[in-house]
Amino acid sequence: MKIAMVGSGYVGLVSGACFADFGHDVVCIDKDQSKIDALHQGIMPIYEPGLAELVGTNVKAGRLSFTTDLAKGIEGAQAIFIAVGTPSRRGDGHADLTFVYAVAEEVGASLSNDAVIVTKSTVPVGTGDEVERILEASGTAHKFAVVSNPEFLREGAAIGDFKRPDRIVIGSESEFGREVMREVYRPLFLNESPILFTSRRSAELIKYAANAFLATKITFINEMADLCEKVGANVQDVSRGIGSDNRIGPKFLHAGPGYGGSCFPKDTLALLKTAEDYESPVRIVEAVVKTNETRKRAMGRKVVDALAKHYGGGPDAVRGKKVALLGLTFKPNTDDMRDSPAIAIAQTLHDAGVVVAAYDPEGMDIAAPLMPEVTMTDDPYQAIEGADAIAIVTEWDVFRALDFSRVKDLANAPILVDLRNIYDPEDVRAAGFEYSSIGRA
Ligand code: UDX
Repeated sequence: MKIAMVGSGYVGLVSGACFADFGHDVVCIDKDQSKIDALHQGIMPIYEPGLAELVGTNVKAGRLSFTTDLAKGIEGAQAIFIAVGTPSRRGDGHADLTFVYAVAEEVGASLSNDAVIVTKSTVPVGTGDEVERILEASGTAHKFAVVSNPEFLREGAAIGDFKRPDRIVIGSESEFGREVMREVYRPLFLNESPILFTSRRSAELIKYAANAFLATKITFINEMADLCEKVGANVQDVSRGIGSDNRIGPKFLHAGPGYGGSCFPKDTLALLKTAEDYESPVRIVEAVVKTNETRKRAMGRKVVDALAKHYGGGPDAVRGKKVALLGLTFKPNTDDMRDSPAIAIAQTLHDAGVVVAAYDPEGMDIAAPLMPEVTMTDDPYQAIEGADAIAIVTEWDVFRALDFSRVKDLANAPILVDLRNIYDPEDVRAAGFEYSSIGRA
């Protein structure tokens, strides 16, 4: 079948390439001419493992193409996905739906056959109703249905997540919508991925509820980690101990510097706004958002404290000292810097008069303008040279096996603050480091 994907960002491009790989005929559409030109040359706008190869194979096979022309791109498509951005609106935290509605209008004006319009962007409850209203108002003579089909893929593991999802959620008010979506996902039914048909509003809420729940799980274990430090317990044992209860589950219980990224911060805020609009407070999520925000700067102070402890306390003791930040992106295997804890950590260090050098395998080009006070370096050891403390912020594999003797030769002081718990405290201390980590007293 023919599928049009409007919006060639993270979700749109990955979904488009995967649908093409299933054998569908896919056109990815984007207003950004330079992005489309780059895609024509095989250059990806984002870093995602395996994406360039997947796009290349499917373009070659004639199943995947790119255009800036929406009217032409949607011609003959039975399913038209809206996968444009829904950033936090400046000022109030509501999801900004300008792009979604603009696409709906354009689709309404150029629809040339019966089609299902699918919102894949994360959109607040009720957005599907509005998209439907816009299409009705366009006066199109063609049969259409508006369906919600949220995407749950993780950056860095996007292709695997898309092709082997835990579930597919389809919110549709009509049989026409369900019928077309069954066809879209037919290859996955064969994989036995469970499919959940719901109402449109339920599907819209599922996406926010899932992200808010995961953000809550992370924030919960982060607070347990703080408590572990105080009471002399080990958060990794606590995670294992509670996570092996099937009702809790072991995933998303890694304590760290706080969640970041393109989804959790923005989606939890948007959920709070929806809850506020409907006067149905979600107080747990309110607490999660506040706790996570505070945590990021607290992590910067943790590094300052490690310095102060070594150099004899007092704020002046750390002034002019140098910290090497290893990892800047919000998680490994991405170049995404959105809401990365590294930004607040670098800011806190800078505020304390600490000089910061950093290395990240993929994120430095995007990070540099966001953290002008930080010196970017070519490799971890260059960042470490002359450093008074080293802080691991993102758990990239390259940081998991640092050459300790080289590190000690290059650094001014052997202070290692591991905000991702990637090292064994005993090993690092045996190597002569003053080591602190998260929730391991
Ligand atoms: C998330 C959801 O997982 C995905 O389903 C949704 O579609 C988009 O948002 P993503 O933002 O790509 O995906 O990353 P994810 O792997 O979920 O991590 C989000 C943040 O939580 C990162 O900053 C990560 O470091 C942090 N995290 C995750 C933890 O601190 N501890 C954990 O145990 C898991």
